[in-house]
Parts: sequence; structure tokens; C-alpha cells
Amino acid sequence: MTKRLPKTAFLLLFLAISTSAHAGDDMELIQHMGTMQYMAHKAGLAIDSRNQPLASFYMHEIEEVIEKLKTVESYDGYPIASLVQSKLMPSFEKLEQAVTAVDWEDADSQFEKLLASCNTCHQATEHSFIRVRRTTANPFMQSFDPQR
Ligand code: HEC
Repeated sequence: MTKRLPKTAFLLLFLAISTSAHAGDDMELIQHMGTMQYMAHKAGLAIDSRNQPLASFYMHEIEEVIEKLKTVESYDGYPIASLVQSKLMPSFEKLEQAVTAVDWEDADSQFEKLLASCNTCHQATEHSFIRVRRTTANPFMQSFDPQR
């Protein structure tokens, strides 16, 4: 009995910590990340296809996720809102300008930089094992070609 007690106490402590780490804002964060990956993938495919209206559409969708992320004050002690502002916003805005200007060469390199800034934040939040990378594969039942 005396041997068992510390184990039980440890288990209860572990449960308390793991439950609180995945409540509220944290659940929202993972959903926002999934949406952002999806929208960024599609933005990349639209850029590959030189489809300006479609690329702008997905940039707007990413921006909506960014607005939501700016309301996530903290996650595991990391200041998400301010990290988004300092790490993601600069590269997002440059990509947005390139897409608006229909400068595909610039958009290509700014898109790579956007993904690099996603990964910079993953590193800053102890999630360096989440590495986003560009892919030109289109797994969607959707055409990214410009309309004729
Ligand atoms: C504010 C820092 C930050 C920025 C900026 C950021 N992430 Fe994340 N990302 C995180 C954290 C923290 C997690 C882990 C969330 C969790 O454990 O619930 C995560 C998780 C993820 C995941 C795993 C979720 C899943 O559905 O598989 C993906 C994918 C992801 N991010 C993609 C991106 C993409 C794409 C960008 C850039 C467009 C980005 N992230 C920008 C902090 C960030």
C-alpha cells in the first residue's frame, strides 16, 4: 500500500497536466493549423498554375486563419498571437503583395519564405518535428488552371 500510493499520485498528476494541456485554446490551435496547411497548399498550387484570382482567394482564407490565431493568447506558455505577428505576418504580407502584383517569380520565392516562417514558429514552440514543405502534387478534385 505504501508502495502504491506514490504511483497513484503520479498518475493523477500526469492526468491533470495532460488534460489541461489539451483544453480550450489548444484544441482551436491545432484546428487552425490544419486549416492553414490546407489553404496554404491550395495557394501554392494556384501560384504554380499562375492563377491570380484563385491565389488571391486562398491568400484571403489564410488571412482569416491568421486573424483567429491572433486571438490565441497562449499555448503551453507560448505567446501565439505575438509569434504570429513577428514570425508569420512579415512573410505573409510580402507574398500577398507579390500575388496582388501578379509577380509570379517573386510569389514563388515568397511562398517558400512563408513556409520557412511556419517552421520557424514550430521550432520556437517546441514543435520542430512539424516541418511543412512545398509540394506541387494536386490531390484535390479541383482544377487550379486559370479560366479561359
Ligand atoms: C505561432 C507559431 C506558429 C506559426 C506561425 C505556425 N504554426 Fe503550425 N503549429 C504551431 C504549434 C504550437 C502547433 C502544435 C499545436 C498543438 O500541439 O496543438 C502547430 C501545428 C501545426 C500542424 C500540425 C497539425 C496538423 O493538422 O497536422 C501543421 C500541419 C501546421 N502547424 C502547419 C502550419 C503552417 C502551414 C503554418 C504557416 C502557414 C504554420 N503552421 C504556422 C505553431 C505555429
